[in-house]
Amino acid sequence: MDGLKERIRKAVHNQPQPTVTILSSLLAVEDELGYIPPEAVDEVAGFNRATINDVWAVVSFYPNFRTTPPGQHRVEVCWGPSCHLVGAMPVIAAVLEAVGLPAEGDTPDGRLSLRYNTCLGACAQAPVMSIDHHLIGRITPEQARNRLADYGAGPATE
Ligand code: FES
Repeated sequence: MDGLKERIRKAVHNQPQPTVTILSSLLAVEDELGYIPPEAVDEVAGFNRATINDVWAVVSFYPNFRTTPPGQHRVEVCWGPSCHLVGAMPVIAAVLEAVGLPAEGDTPDGRLSLRYNTCLGACAQAPVMSIDHHLIGRITPEQARNRLADYGAGPATE
């Protein structure tokens, strides 16, 4: 069995919670791989005694599931209400400029994937962004630029 299929199989079969669903299985794969490849849809369907169409329906319903591999580092910027009120938009503008993208997406070099988030769960620390799931609170546009420069973003790179 190749490495990808084995990782998928383990993620799906080793879910610790008592109730396992198509959604929980997809989340387990997403946690393991960062995306849902076609092989995962097959595995999740078989494990949950569902059809491939049932699984694709769940994948396509939730925009947070991605079906292509993410960049090397995952950047999320919160634009939820708490963050919006205290300066999320200038942070987002700085992040977009730093990564060279017009909106959320992946940098062409595959280094960074940028997503907007409606709440990163740390409203008291607003505005908030995260890099590889590490939260950074009370971030300023300048700090966001500096943090991203550590991950290869910025005008001096490629
Ligand atoms: S609204 Fe930004 S962390 Fe909750």
